[in-house]
Amino acid sequence: MKIRSVEFARAAPTWAALPDDGRPEFAFVGRSNVGKSSLLNALVGRKHLARTSGTPGKTQALNYYLVNAPTADRGGLEGFYLVDLPGFGYAKVSQQQRAAWQRLIGRYVTERAPLRAVFHLIDSRHEPAKLDEELFELLRGSPVPRIAVLTKADKLSKNQRRSREAHLKRYLAARGQDLPIVLTSAEKREGMEEVGRWIDTLL
Ligand code: GTP
Ligand code: MG
Repeated sequence: MKIRSVEFARAAPTWAALPDDGRPEFAFVGRSNVGKSSLLNALVGRKHLARTSGTPGKTQALNYYLVNAPTADRGGLEGFYLVDLPGFGYAKVSQQQRAAWQRLIGRYVTERAPLRAVFHLIDSRHEPAKLDEELFELLRGSPVPRIAVLTKADKLSKNQRRSREAHLKRYLAARGQDLPIVLTSAEKREGMEEVGRWIDTLL
């Protein structure tokens, strides 16, 4: 994937606020703090484009980043969106807010017409937890290709990497889900080419 330009396009807190230009979308979903915003930044090579934070709950809307559509071409349909989603199941907001986001994320991954693929991020250091499990179930209803992305691999040894990847494969197989798995580190910019290849393939 060659990045010629990238810019923040909009923050959509509701379904009605999603763009209507029909450009293809690629979404990053996962629990809060798993590294969605960091992965997006690493992918486009812009460290501070999407806001990241050690405190969960940083991203509070569907944040749209427009790639390869220079301002001059805005009228055309060139380019695509990378969409940074709020953390799934973030606990520190009100129950109502949490339920509203979960509904919005659920609707987005199942009904959003321009969506081409969902990257489901899972922290490589931990067992998939209850929220990951819920997200796997929710994403089962998505009609688009899904790619499992293990994040923060720089925190693992070589052996741990192999075993975490094998573990996730078994975990998915046990649930009848056969997804490609990409091991990544936003910190070390590992796995970005592979993520980029998926985008190229699915565009
Ligand atoms: P929310 O927006 O709250 O849902 O979080 P997020 O999934 O967007 O996570 P974010 O990218 O903000 O990263 C959360 C924390 O993990 C930050 O402190 C990052 O620096 C750290 N982090 C993200 N990616 C990596 C990585 O590849 N390696 C390491 N070591 N830390 C990472
Ligand atoms: Mg974020």
